[in-house]
Amino acid sequence: MSKYITTPIYYVNGEAHIGHAYTTFIADTMTRYEKLKGEDTYFLTGTDEHGQKIEESAQKNAKPTQEFADEISATFKNLWDEFDISYDQFIRTTDENHKRGVQKAFEVMYAKGDIYKDFYEGHYCVSCETFFPETQLEDGEFCPDCGRSTSIIKEESYFFKLSKYEDKLLKYYEDHPDFILPRSRINEVINFVKGGLRDLSVTRTSFTWGVKIPKSLNDDKHVMYVWLDALLNYITALGYGKDDANMKYWPASTQFVGKDILRFHAIYWPAFLMSLDLPLPKHICAHGWWTRDGEKMSKSKGNVIAPKVVADAYRAENLRYFMLREVPFGQDGDFSQRAFIDRINSELSNDLGNLLNRIIGMSGKYSEFKIDSVDVQKYHSKELDAMNEALGNLDAFMQQMQTHRYLEELWKLFAIGNGAITGYEPWAKMKEGKEDEALATVALVANILAKAAIMLHPIMPKTTNIIADALNFEINHESYKDLVLGKNLLKVFNIKKVPPLFPRVEEPLMPEAPVAQPNAPKEEQSVKKEEDNLIEIGQFFQTSLKVGMIVQAEEVPKSKKLLKLQVDLGEHSNRQVVAGIKEFYSADSLIGTQVCVVANLKPAKLMGMISDGMLLAAKDEHGLCLIRPEKAKKVGTPIG
Ligand code: MSP
Repeated sequence: MSKYITTPIYYVNGEAHIGHAYTTFIADTMTRYEKLKGEDTYFLTGTDEHGQKIEESAQKNAKPTQEFADEISATFKNLWDEFDISYDQFIRTTDENHKRGVQKAFEVMYAKGDIYKDFYEGHYCVSCETFFPETQLEDGEFCPDCGRSTSIIKEESYFFKLSKYEDKLLKYYEDHPDFILPRSRINEVINFVKGGLRDLSVTRTSFTWGVKIPKSLNDDKHVMYVWLDALLNYITALGYGKDDANMKYWPASTQFVGKDILRFHAIYWPAFLMSLDLPLPKHICAHGWWTRDGEKMSKSKGNVIAPKVVADAYRAENLRYFMLREVPFGQDGDFSQRAFIDRINSELSNDLGNLLNRIIGMSGKYSEFKIDSVDVQKYHSKELDAMNEALGNLDAFMQQMQTHRYLEELWKLFAIGNGAITGYEPWAKMKEGKEDEALATVALVANILAKAAIMLHPIMPKTTNIIADALNFEINHESYKDLVLGKNLLKVFNIKKVPPLFPRVEEPLMPEAPVAQPNAPKEEQSVKKEEDNLIEIGQFFQTSLKVGMIVQAEEVPKSKKLLKLQVDLGEHSNRQVVAGIKEFYSADSLIGTQVCVVANLKPAKLMGMISDGMLLAAKDEHGLCLIRPEKAKKVGTPIG
């Protein structure tokens, strides 16, 4: 039976970080594992390029949207190539074939009566590309997911009859308890569905960067909602709507997603598929989130780790190993250089690298690099049994995506190998004239390394190819069948010297993460104690604080919180600052007063208005007050 494995397609509004890398590593590992087992496996990844968020990112970067999408999409593709990601296809939602497939799906749903036209009015978060009911908003205005300000949008829209699929979905979850993995996540999905599914607005007229709805509807101001467009990539990649060339791979065996986008994949996606009369994927597998040194990663904090930076400092495959070893699938993980270095030194360098070096050294000394497994069974049946037992346990762990348990189990092999060397002391046996025994131990370890290399291959393909080359065999389905399934031993061969695979790391090889900025969006703020957050004086002076004068102030219509201010900072023109202080100050009372302004923040958009600076304020349970100079100062005077 064929397998089809997918990653989410990544938004092209920023470059990849290690969270994206994790999803891609685990999907690549599963694919390589299935291929090693001889399964016909198709692996899809790609980029999600439509929607208002991308359009706005392109505008901020002063680039035509397509050119911007091309550039960022290429950074993902190049990155995956550098990490040897063995995708069979890299799809882009701006591909013509994809767009055609999406239009076809829309037509099918429309013809079935699952799509109808109406009006939508609601609070929309551009950043999350999602409408939220008022009851879910924070303080009646802010996005419950990202904390950013939402805007009210009323527009004509086509709706997908999601409500029609409520019962069918619930029945499906009940009948397929492994549809969502880990199983612990099923309840949040069921509860969401039981809470009532509202029909889903699946087109937009407020922007144009999207797939147009089919011409047959004669309504060309509508583009498709980005999630409808994006989710369909999993079938358009197989030729849906074109020639169905690879539809034999559908339904997908494993679709990996981060926990934040589980709802889209476990509710909307199956409902779309039901509407298209297509079978549902076997498993939607939701992984946890990665933090850095205990902090959520975000651009505003400047603590995002680019996988390429880690790979350049520590080697790409070490990162793959670390991420897959560090967290139980489904749980959140933390990247810290300390934990990473510990695993490189103790597990990769000591347990594995040294074992190979010792075997090369001993066989060079005792047998001119010749290894012969002839006496292994005779002297080491106990070790062979233990090794085969551990090897036999591996498949179940991989099937459950528990790569940390898989690697833990695999590492038992190195413990057996290292234990055999310490326990049987081949050097002593050589001195005692028991050459057969000594060489049998060396050959045992060589076989352990060979079998471990095959099973480690899906996680560290290049490194294990070097090990296999040193042991004079190739890692492929044949050697997997022979050495792992068949439990056979290597024949007589000459072992080759290789440079150390995992040099020890003594010092962190990358700069530590910058500390969090105190005014990062709400959900990103550090919960750490002050003493954990000490900064250098230089870091403080990176913030440009200046005295400013508010010269104009007005209320922002429809916003309970925002005032739009023009602030004179002594520059050639005034700055527009949008501040959430309306509940505490009237616009008129502010005009002509001085304030302290953070002057070098990247401009942000709030309710569609540019805000180019931030006012310092203190807020407690009694309210908010602006921080002002005690005496009037010239505008633009630096503070610090
Ligand atoms: N474009 C959508 C997916 C559409 S799939 C039809 C999207 N893109 S994304 O680029 O924002 O996120 C892609 C994946 O990266 C998601 O699975 C998300 O969970 C994952 N991650 C983003 N940040 C992450 C971490 N910090 N840690 C782990 N994974 C995280 O959502």
